[in-house]
Amino acid sequence: MGKAEGAAAAAAAAAVVAAAAAVVWRRRSGGWRAEEMARELEERCAAPGMEGLRRIAGEMSAEMAAGLAEDGESKVKMLVTFVDNLPAGSEKGLFYALDLGGTNFRVLRLQLGGKERHIVKQESREVSIPPHLMVGTSAELFGFIASELARFVDSEGGDFRLPEGRQRELGFTFSFPVRQFSIASGILIKWTKGFSIEDGVGEDVVAELTKAMEKQGVDMRVAVLVNDTVGTLAGGRYHDEDVAVAVILGTGTNAAYVEKAHAIPKWNGLYPKSGNMVINMEWGNFWSSDLPITEYDQELDAESLNPGEQIFEKLISGMYLGEIVRRVLLKMAKEAALFGDTVPAKLKTPFILRTPDISAMHHDTTPDLKIVEKKLKENLEITNTSVKTRKLVVKVCDIIAKRAARLAAAGIAGILKKQGRDTRGDGEKRTAVAIDGGLFEHYKEFRECLKSTLEELLGEAASRSVVVKLANDGSGIGAALLAASHSQYNELEE
Ligand code: BGC
Repeated sequence: MGKAEGAAAAAAAAAVVAAAAAVVWRRRSGGWRAEEMARELEERCAAPGMEGLRRIAGEMSAEMAAGLAEDGESKVKMLVTFVDNLPAGSEKGLFYALDLGGTNFRVLRLQLGGKERHIVKQESREVSIPPHLMVGTSAELFGFIASELARFVDSEGGDFRLPEGRQRELGFTFSFPVRQFSIASGILIKWTKGFSIEDGVGEDVVAELTKAMEKQGVDMRVAVLVNDTVGTLAGGRYHDEDVAVAVILGTGTNAAYVEKAHAIPKWNGLYPKSGNMVINMEWGNFWSSDLPITEYDQELDAESLNPGEQIFEKLISGMYLGEIVRRVLLKMAKEAALFGDTVPAKLKTPFILRTPDISAMHHDTTPDLKIVEKKLKENLEITNTSVKTRKLVVKVCDIIAKRAARLAAAGIAGILKKQGRDTRGDGEKRTAVAIDGGLFEHYKEFRECLKSTLEELLGEAASRSVVVKLANDGSGIGAALLAASHSQYNELEE
């Protein structure tokens, strides 16, 4: 054997020994290495601390001002919605709404009875969107929606009354970033939340829907086009006149709020009579160097349908939390043999762990964490886990969910700051924040962490005048209410 060959053989032998030692080390101390990884993750995720969260709130508020100054000045788009009045409670008549924005869409109809009788009757139907339509063509997606709407209209019973000779009207909740040109038109800026339909971007979504409805023989006018945050704001205001901010924490995340028209330099239309304008922030695209982004988030983003975009949303919303946890567990399985010597095959499948699964594991109160055991088995085919391992899985869910909740709280604090409502003390006007979305509604640990963080950020006195409330199903109702206040027949009735 020559000198070079000898050296190569020695190096190869050393590598084998090192690999074997690594396996032994992993076997002996796998749990501890995994715990160490969890500790590192926790430190990173909690890194901003209260001070960092306050800075994030400040940056959110500054980005809001920049986005209002001029389009393109901020990552937060601050879209003008053309909604300058929120429902007053006097709306009357039959109105439809169509709510599209996640894996399901909903159609609903409301018979509104005015100040005295409010919502007299309401019916809705939820339809799940076949996954291939989320990445197909715009005509296919709208065609499917219009056909379901047609069936729903056909089922309208006698409790709903449309005056003779009138056309049905609809509020269209479309929960993606749209640049609006009027209350009932706007072009799609980009898709988010797993939708990716190339020919939809740049198109007027109301025109697309109208075309599809005509094809299905549905005679209906789209009276308003609103984002789900705007619908939630309108629905929230209908029940509580102090609602001034709406937030969605569901598959995606976003916020809308009432701004003074004179505080919107980029607005070049006439000032509305109310002096106000609702702004759809599109806060999911917010970014700050203070955000506690980890390697898992970077990888998730790089492999997503919209790399580099919606970073705040990817840290916070329901579409991603389960997936972040999966990525952490996968790394622990690979580097610390968390689930034994082989890496469970299913754990390698993107998006196999959903946020409702991590919520169920996170809230497991059984002594041996039986729910965690069951979820790992059912979802990932991982069996024979020790209680120690299950505890670590819960720990990872806790870290990721709480990071999300704290960031969402900082975002809300930023909006209140922009509105000058973050320092109001006792006796001052109350501000209500209406929140909708499954993440907030069903994930208790998330909800409570959000509320307590917001209280801490605002301080005791100011937080007494801010209430955070669940506005279940507000966005569809809100859209129908706005359709009522923008009905083509309103002038006839005045
Ligand atoms: C969209 C927003 C929407 C939010 C909540 C985001 O992905 O960009 O328009 O309001 O999800 O549905």
